[in-house]
Amino acid sequence: MKDANWGLITHSLLETKRVGASLGRLLRGDEVICLEGELGAGKTSLIQGIGQGLGIADPITSPTFTLVNEYEGSKGRLYHVDLYRLQGTDEMMTVGIDDYLYSDGVCVIEWAEKARGLLPSERLHVTLRHVSQQERNIEFRATGGAYRGLLNRLKEVLDITAGLHDTSY
Ligand SMILES: Nc1ncnc2c1ncn2[C@@H]1O[C@H](COP(=O)(O)OP(=O)(O)OP(=O)(O)O)[C@@H](O)[C@H]1O
Ligand SMILES: [Mg+2]
Repeated sequence: MKDANWGLITHSLLETKRVGASLGRLLRGDEVICLEGELGAGKTSLIQGIGQGLGIADPITSPTFTLVNEYEGSKGRLYHVDLYRLQGTDEMMTVGIDDYLYSDGVCVIEWAEKARGLLPSERLHVTLRHVSQQERNIEFRATGGAYRGLLNRLKEVLDITAGLHDTSY
């Protein structure tokens, strides 16, 4: 049985972005990635890395006045959903969040716990936690065979580059 859970600690913003970029490079283009973690945990930073890995040239910023920002990358679209301001699942249905979840792009959701009932059963969960001012614990949880495979490939790639992470800042 392949690993369904795996985590690591990053020691800087740059390192978190690199983890995101490694993940972004491994994506096929239709995945759902659910991010959880308190304010300032690094969710948007991780997505900026994912965007880089997906070949998105535009800067990724948090969708402040909308729930979703859309970007065009070399492997198709990236939907960046931020549910921070959302009250309940009714409002979510009215903005059609499920269209993004089941679309052919990559859908990355901040505050995904607010959409729990709407999430597809197969997805990659990422929980970010403060360890110290500059350190974050990043825990991945994969559900479904495709996502377990993805997580194992990510683990391999990050194990290989671990030395670089330690010395590059
Ligand atoms: N190891 C680290 N990884 C990521 N961010 C870090 C790290 N160390 C410090 N930081 C800082 O933490 C902040 C993370 O902000 P970010 O916007 O990514 O968080 P967020 O989880 O999206 O917050 P919000 O819930 O407000 O959207 C940035 O200011 C960044 O510089
Ligand atoms: Mg954010």
